[in-house]
Amino acid sequence: MNTRFTFCMIKPDAFKSDTVSDILLDILKAGFKIRGIKITMLTKSKAEQFYDIHQGKEFFDRLTTFMSSGPVMAMVLERPDAVESMRKLIGKTDPAQAEEGTIRKKFGSDTTHNAVHAADSYENAEREWSFFFSKREIY
Ligand code: PPS
Repeated sequence: MNTRFTFCMIKPDAFKSDTVSDILLDILKAGFKIRGIKITMLTKSKAEQFYDIHQGKEFFDRLTTFMSSGPVMAMVLERPDAVESMRKLIGKTDPAQAEEGTIRKKFGSDTTHNAVHAADSYENAEREWSFFFSKREIY
């Protein structure tokens, strides 16, 4: 298992509030290198596929409707202990409960509009970046 890489996605609310560049700056300042990056828009069906593990939960429709409501920025990031470091940097799902200084605390509004997604395991990170990137698109 390679623990240097993770997957992260900036969500539509950050595009709406024009905070994408601030979020990127926080990611870079934390020592991550960007190895793959793209802006795209998910269809509802693609969002449902990406969040398949949450099928059946009460928030599934809200989450996938929101994630297909505007652009997202998908990224492959490199740093030692990438998954753990990125999860720490983004903070808890609910921005109100996230620690001071975390991305969700600074830029998120609620559990739906929480600015960023980051993979929670190395296995999921690989599954998630493969969803957005071909091998040739990762440096
Ligand atoms: S769980 O059930 O503990 O696995 O859920 P959690 O890890 O907290 O959140 C998984 C993703 O679902 C989003 N989420 C929600 N969206 C809309 N409404 C509600 N109530 C809600 N609760 C959680 C949350 O932002 C997570 O998105 P990602 O993109 O994975 O960060």
